[in-house]
Amino acid sequence: MKKIIAFAGSNNPDSINEKLVKSVIQEFPDSGIEFIDLKIFELPLYSQAIEGIGVPEAAKVLFHKMNEATGFIMASPEHNGLPSAFLKNIVDWLSRIDQQFFGNKPIFLMSTSPGSTGGRSHLDLLARLVGRWGGNLMGTYSLGNFHKSYNAEEGTLLEPYRAELKHKIAMFLAGKDDLQKSKVDVVKAYFDAFSEGRTTDVIQLFHPHCYIVSVKEEERNEGALHGTYHGREEVGEFLSNISNMFQTKSFLVKEVCSSGGSLVLARGSFSHLVRSTGKLFNSDWVQLCWIQDGMIKEYRFYEDSAALIAAMENNTPALEL
Ligand SMILES: Cc1cc2nc3c(=O)[nH]c(=O)nc-3n(C[C@H](O)[C@H](O)[C@H](O)COP(=O)(O)O)c2cc1C
Repeated sequence: MKKIIAFAGSNNPDSINEKLVKSVIQEFPDSGIEFIDLKIFELPLYSQAIEGIGVPEAAKVLFHKMNEATGFIMASPEHNGLPSAFLKNIVDWLSRIDQQFFGNKPIFLMSTSPGSTGGRSHLDLLARLVGRWGGNLMGTYSLGNFHKSYNAEEGTLLEPYRAELKHKIAMFLAGKDDLQKSKVDVVKAYFDAFSEGRTTDVIQLFHPHCYIVSVKEEERNEGALHGTYHGREEVGEFLSNISNMFQTKSFLVKEVCSSGGSLVLARGSFSHLVRSTGKLFNSDWVQLCWIQDGMIKEYRFYEDSAALIAAMENNTPALEL
């Protein structure tokens, strides 16, 4: 039997995120979704001094309740691009009881705001963080222009948002991961950022503890492009090694598809000018990316190494460029 706990990370008595949560509950009256009002859990602002005296009873009660749940639906307001201080405080207290307080259970994240973005940027941030708190992220939804998208009399969203969210929640309740498309989107976003030279965005799309295999899985020599890279700090090095070695003439992405799990496969072709020889290196390529928390955790890129060796040799005249 499912017991989904739904809540809003807001202490606003007229919270629109709470209204969003309640609209979902109204759509699925027999699905065992229980609303919890976080406002009733009176928690002081986290401090180590207070924790030294003891974790407040309210935090323990909330943790206990969450422990009994089989999944979560959370709507979070965006305050200055971040979750509200109210929600962050609750997270801090719960994490002192158990860092993985969501207990490796499925979670669906939502956000709404009166503005057009619907709190999307902080929702992306939360999507990256919930794994750290033991949440198994199954889907996200942000609703912009809340007051124009909500029927206050009925307590439901207006179309097409109503049908859109209903579909996503139905998938969530059925235990289906709505993020397959988003996993593909992460890789597509990577290609977009890469081809537009948005280095910071490329780096942000990699997991802080990412692992990169550029053609061969072995330690790199200083400045060498091919080999392994560890962690987000080395992503920048990976990118500059590419541009130090090659001038890209074309980079074609032919297909990006999901394996159904965390793996996203992509293939295409490129034409690079090898800077040291002035020769063209043309190759098909295959890229494997394992996605975690909306970021690339493991990245493997394979190309035609024999064609590269030929393009690196200095024994034939360079192309007229
Ligand atoms: C301090 C503060 C900062 C805010 N920052 C943002 C923001 O960054 N992005 C946004 O879309 N809305 C922002 N808003 C507007 C909120 O989306 C709006 O207040 C909304 O009602 C909050 O949700 P709630 O009613 O569920 O608490 C902010 C509101 C406050 C009070």
